[in-house]
Amino acid sequence: MEDRLVANHLLDDEQPHEGSLRPQTLDEYIGQERMKESLRVCIEAAKRRSEPLDHAIFYGPPGLGKTTIAHIIAKEMGGTIRSTSGLVLNHAGDLAAILTNLQSHDVLFIDEIHRLPAGVEEALYPAMEDFQIDLVIGQGPATRTMKLDLPPFTLVGATTKAGSLTSPLRERFGLVYRLDFYTPEELDIIVNRSAGLLNIAIEPGGSTEIGRRARGTPRIANRLIKRVRDFAEVKAEGVITQKVANDALQWLGVDGAGFDEMDRKILLTILDKFNGGPVGVEALAAAVQEEKATLEDVYEPFLLQSGYLDRTARGRQVTTKAFQHFGKTKDLFG
Ligand SMILES: Nc1ncnc2c1ncn2[C@@H]1O[C@H](COP(=O)(O)OP(=O)(O)OP(=O)(O)O)[C@@H](O)[C@H]1O
Ligand SMILES: [Mg+2]
Repeated sequence: MEDRLVANHLLDDEQPHEGSLRPQTLDEYIGQERMKESLRVCIEAAKRRSEPLDHAIFYGPPGLGKTTIAHIIAKEMGGTIRSTSGLVLNHAGDLAAILTNLQSHDVLFIDEIHRLPAGVEEALYPAMEDFQIDLVIGQGPATRTMKLDLPPFTLVGATTKAGSLTSPLRERFGLVYRLDFYTPEELDIIVNRSAGLLNIAIEPGGSTEIGRRARGTPRIANRLIKRVRDFAEVKAEGVITQKVANDALQWLGVDGAGFDEMDRKILLTILDKFNGGPVGVEALAAAVQEEKATLEDVYEPFLLQSGYLDRTARGRQVTTKAFQHFGKTKDLFG
């Protein structure tokens, strides 16, 4: 995927910067109120019983706080987090090595858990259910399996593709949470919090403007505030007023709805090449030169949720709101 300003994929070199803005506790974590309330109760109950928290899975588009919440759970439970990813856990043996090194009440975080190979996933089942793994020892006729007890731990999974989880895996999570896009008000608070941590001078109008145009996504809000700060320092005496924020965002190619170039390309392609749709997702992906999976998991969710795009049985279709946003009218004879 191309590197775009409001790209909500985690770029490797950003991880250290993200860390510094990452909320450390449930109280610092803005928004997702229902999820937080549920987690508060479950964490408190588990702690009173001196048990690990139930295995939990978080799903939703990139940049909404899945990794962040995994870290917070470990901290609130008083354990350490061990992080890995479905992309790198290729062998059941790798999983066994990680599991046998866990301490009581640790969190094992598996990002992109839908990408686990089948063999590793199956090895995970007894670990989740009974805190046991089956180790395979030896080769050929001398092969035997040995059961090994594990310390009680919590598995936290994250995925942008809940639909790709197998049902046996999904059913083994006691807690399942979908992360929603954040409201402009919540993003306003996040922008102010980040500005405070980064020592950025910002006026209320400035944070409102950035929050409103951050595509419902904290990661994007944090990225925008840094870029707007650069602009403010060079062109506007350092203070982010509403006007400075607006000028900077325009300069950065983020439009009034928070769309970046790819969002606009997707909507305009449906509008211009397919007369508003419906168009099948494969044809759309080919037309915008993007992978189908990326289109579905990264770009579409926000366009759907903000009411510019519809998913119909016959394909993708833009809404009246999209026609209006681009100042176009539907060609009835197209
Ligand atoms: N609820 C929140 N309150 C404040 N900041 C947040 C919140 N959620 C996320 N952030 C900020 O957004 C950044 C991205 O969040 P995070 O890395 O947890 O997203 P993610 O859902 O794991 O994304 P991906 O699917 O790409 O892995 C964090 O570094 C943090 O600074
Ligand atoms: Mg993550």
